Amino acid sequence: MSGNQERTYLMIKPDGVQRGLVGEIIKRFEQKGFKLVALKFVQPTEEMLQKHYADLSGRPFFAGLVKYMASGPVVAMVWEGLNIVKTGRQMLGETNPADSKPGTIRGDFCIQVGRNIMHGSDSVESANKEIALWFKDEELVSWQPADKVWVYED
Ligand code: RTP
Ligand code: MG
Repeated sequence: MSGNQERTYLMIKPDGVQRGLVGEIIKRFEQKGFKLVALKFVQPTEEMLQKHYADLSGRPFFAGLVKYMASGPVVAMVWEGLNIVKTGRQMLGETNPADSKPGTIRGDFCIQVGRNIMHGSDSVESANKEIALWFKDEELVSWQPADKVWVYED
């Protein structure tokens, strides 16, 4: 698989949905030139979220995190492109919005760590795990964006 086909799992959290930021967030990834591979609007169960954030299960904020994430619908997405895991995290900003630069999603649209509006995979390995957790293989769409040659050199 070429580097241009790296994938990440991005999720607009319940606060991002409630605050009407779905279009704004998706727009940034579209405008960057990344390719949308899968998208669904779901009410996640606590069980799904416990699996999604399993690495954090020992942390004191875990129960509150799961409750917050289960408090409303989320937008689950798979996006593809060169270095998308790293670039996606840069576009999100730091975990704590107070440390996020203006111009990043968290820097522009939120204030506190427990309401930081969006999730992004932190490595290719976790992206693969998260994509498999949230999507069935047949939900990942194979298509060729018409502007590919204008986004990539080859
Ligand atoms: P995410 O997984 O949601 O993209 O966030 P992240 O990688 O930037 O940060 P991570 O360490 O994975 O934490 C997951 C989410 O847990 C909440 N959190 N709260 N109260 C706290 O100190 C604290 N620390 C983390 C945040 O919602 C964070 O995004
Ligand atoms: Mg994380």
